[in-house]
Amino acid sequence: MAIERRAFLIGTSAAAFAQSGSTVATAMIGTGNRGTHVLRGVLEQPNAKVLAVCDIKPDRLDNAASVAAKDNPKTYRDWKQVIDRKDIEAVFIATPPHLHAEMAVAALQAGKHVYCEKPIGVTAAQVRNVVKAAKNTKRVFTAGQQLRSHLQMGEAVSKIRGGLIGNLLMVKAQRHANGDLPHDGSSGDWYFDVTKSGGYLIEQSVHNLDVCNWVIGAHPTKACGFGAINLYKNDPPGRTIFDCGSMTFEYPGGVQMSFTQNVFHPRGLQGGGQLVLVYGSKGAVDLMYAATLYPMERDGKPQVIAEKREEKTHAHTTAFYDAITKGGPNPADVTVGATAALTAILGHEAMTRQKVVTWTELGVEV
Ligand SMILES: NC(=O)c1ccc[n+]([C@@H]2O[C@H](COP(=O)([O-])OP(=O)(O)OC[C@H]3O[C@@H](n4cnc5c(N)ncnc54)[C@H](O)[C@@H]3O)[C@@H](O)[C@H]2O)c1
Repeated sequence: MAIERRAFLIGTSAAAFAQSGSTVATAMIGTGNRGTHVLRGVLEQPNAKVLAVCDIKPDRLDNAASVAAKDNPKTYRDWKQVIDRKDIEAVFIATPPHLHAEMAVAALQAGKHVYCEKPIGVTAAQVRNVVKAAKNTKRVFTAGQQLRSHLQMGEAVSKIRGGLIGNLLMVKAQRHANGDLPHDGSSGDWYFDVTKSGGYLIEQSVHNLDVCNWVIGAHPTKACGFGAINLYKNDPPGRTIFDCGSMTFEYPGGVQMSFTQNVFHPRGLQGGGQLVLVYGSKGAVDLMYAATLYPMERDGKPQVIAEKREEKTHAHTTAFYDAITKGGPNPADVTVGATAALTAILGHEAMTRQKVVTWTELGVEV
């Protein structure tokens, strides 16, 4: 497709795009662990073509170029050169978290569709900038909160939101891992620095916190909590992120959400470390992957409220392209991405400041 034609298509409706049978010219910025995984998903899409891959590490860049060899992408070390390309229509951002906002804002302002890995920002100011840029454009912005594309969980969430367990009263959620991320692994050069990753809550638990917001149908109004480094003291050297923490979030209507995180949860304990239990006036649901309802009555039998489906590995990426080319639903738009990141930032602020922090104090309208 000629550049002029592509430029024309960007300005037309998704329906017209669908009829044209065109592909979306795509660039990948950050081709490490996650970026390469997502790249494989992009290459599976019938309506995508990878024209550019970008990373500051030569080995990652070479690897991405060979993974995407069928599309013969150009390689870049400087992400700004990628954004400057007028023929690029969609940009994936999978760099370390503290870089997301600047890159996403620049891409949106240059008229690109953006798929930005979670968290979309590690500070409230960064999130605010992304929200503003995304709301100022008609381009698609999708946050990498891919649990929003999980079909079984989505069905269970809509049943709970539809009143299946009565009034929501409380959620107990956790993200416990059976180890730290490898200290010398691919993310070791940024993950343990709180200014770059935001810490375990903002970088990882943002997925679980997003599920809590999704099922409650709101964002928290305030949070309090504590965090600590209890096992990995100064390990790796200079570590500034907690290895455990415990928080309480309050939601509208007084709904309580209790959240814990740690990196020393042995395999197999309690069925693994991730949990979202949703309590309502008529019963409780084990939401994370199980979708099982436990009725309140003494002799009530547990029942599965959403059957297991074939969950496609790259469903979220497919949804992003469908939103661009067919006007399909965007499962994690900027409001979802910002709300998830801000919930994590709220919890992190509460733990580090050791005081109650309100949503309003974050100063971002989502
Ligand atoms: N959605 C998910 O389930 C999921 C899973 C894992 C990671 N992630 C997210 O993906 C992001 C990347 O994580 P990862 O595990 O792939 O880390 P990683 O360290 O393996 O990859 C990050 C890559 O970005 C590159 N990079 C750094 N600065 C850059 C720059 N200025 N320009 C271009 N490239 C640059 C690095 O060289 C590296 O290759 C993080 O935000 C992480 O939270 C999401």
